[in-house]
Amino acid sequence: MEIVIVPDAPAQGDLAAGAIADLVGRKPDALIGVATGSTPLPVYEALQRRREQGLNLDRARICQLDEYVGLPAGHPESYREVVRREVLDRLGISDDRFMGPDGSAADVVKACADYERTLAAAGGVDLQLLGIGTDGHIGFNEPISSFGSRTRVKTLTKQTRVDNARFFAGLDEVPQHVLTQGIGTIMEARHLILLATGESKAEAVALAVEGPLAAVVPASVLQLHPHATVILDEAAAGQLKLADYYRSTYATKPAWQGI
Ligand code: GLP
Repeated sequence: MEIVIVPDAPAQGDLAAGAIADLVGRKPDALIGVATGSTPLPVYEALQRRREQGLNLDRARICQLDEYVGLPAGHPESYREVVRREVLDRLGISDDRFMGPDGSAADVVKACADYERTLAAAGGVDLQLLGIGTDGHIGFNEPISSFGSRTRVKTLTKQTRVDNARFFAGLDEVPQHVLTQGIGTIMEARHLILLATGESKAEAVALAVEGPLAAVVPASVLQLHPHATVILDEAAAGQLKLADYYRSTYATKPAWQGI
């Protein structure tokens, strides 16, 4: 795992967008997994700027990480609509290059299995962006999710519903159930980039990066991934014991290596 501590969210966005631009340069039809929430927005803004400056995303493909169950199709806070607004529209990516699980399906169990097949048929995810919940979740894999789990239905913790209530009229509007790529599914992506910003994430980040591997901290599974990059602002890095080591390692890293 590589830990990169940068001054602020725009710097995070630039770094992650640079990695995506490099990937698309090597593999124009790369499958890029995107995350919702506030944290990755600077990545999408940075990609939009790069596209305006000539980055070619004409063949890039986008896939979704997770979804609420039961919101009607087209609901503005369904993750499909959020990804459409924040990623596809910004980057000029059409629906035929986008894939996601259907949280409005009558048979959500089948929707999960279908999504696993879709990702496999697409050749797997090349780069997956991840945020982290204050309880250490990735995607919507709440604490004690199996490290071997595949895309499935999960029940949100109260804490996650409270954290996400800001996007809805109130807590009661936040769905109880979600679909999420499983931890085993996420771990198959060739490169994982986890972003965290702000003091509210510092404890979850420290547990994930420097704590024991534990299902109760789902993000700790990144310790097992051969290519995982964690990009933090100073506040999110605030509880890391080895922060100075991570800083000096990155400062002396040869530029050609990228992240
Ligand atoms: C939701 C999403 C996660 C995201 C998390 C953190 O629970 N399912 O994918 O990482 O929120 O969101 P934020 O970046 O807004 O803190």
